Amino acid sequence: MDYSKLKIPTHVAIILDGNGRWAQEQGLTRSQGHKSGFENLKTLSRYIFNKGIKVLSVYAFSTENFKRSKEEVSFLMNLFASEFKNYSDLMNEQGIKVVFSGERKAPLPDKVIDIIEEVEEATKQNTRGILNICINYGGHSEIVNATKKICKLVLENKLSIDDITEENFSQYLFNDLPPVDLLIRTSGEIRISNFMIYQLSYAEMYFPKTYFPAFDAAEFDKAIVEYTKRDRRFGGINYENKNN
Ligand code: IPE
Ligand code: IPE
Ligand code: MG
Repeated sequence: MDYSKLKIPTHVAIILDGNGRWAQEQGLTRSQGHKSGFENLKTLSRYIFNKGIKVLSVYAFSTENFKRSKEEVSFLMNLFASEFKNYSDLMNEQGIKVVFSGERKAPLPDKVIDIIEEVEEATKQNTRGILNICINYGGHSEIVNATKKICKLVLENKLSIDDITEENFSQYLFNDLPPVDLLIRTSGEIRISNFMIYQLSYAEMYFPKTYFPAFDAAEFDKAIVEYTKRDRRFGGINYENKNN
């Protein structure tokens, strides 16, 4: 689709949901659903960056997802470890810097933490766009973590309380990214599930029914068409649109 007449968000965030239900509908296992979801992410993220979006955040595994069966969690951890291995080359080829958000400690396995750090190191010089992958991520955990970082700096006399502002708070989050402009959650669920609660404060939200493995370029186009129609007022009023 031609995007020249569409509004291009700077930061798009996607809650990658519905892998399990997609697989069930196809008569496949949940694991196969996760595999297809990850394949789709590679194709879709390439498309999204080619359309001029600068930052793409994706929710791949929440702090709460550790409540799932041991088998499903271990399948996903192995999938992350093997998939992310290829991300250094894949993203370097596209000029995309990869960053990860979430707690880098148990129960997240060491082999996943090691790969995350390798990919970040290997892609840190890229400037065309940022792919922020959220793993062992929770919005509450992120804010608590930021609070601890700030308290530590204050206690060490490296930061004064009056210097903590709305402008600089985001530098204490897992990654310092611009606010989310458009949030997409696939699969028809209409909730945030602890995703980027600080960064989503003024995001436009879009909840397609499509399951993530089937959310392709044409589905993404529809999200951008819808986003273009939204009147983002940020609490103000667009007087030129009003008949007064
Ligand atoms: C999203 O798909 C992927 C992860 C949470 C890891 P789900 O696994 O939540 O799929 P559904 O919601 O059960 O269909
Ligand atoms: C949110 O999806 C987390 C990810 C997509 C990674 P879930 O499927 O875990 O969320 P709930 O349980 O429906 O809220
Ligand atoms: Mg789900």
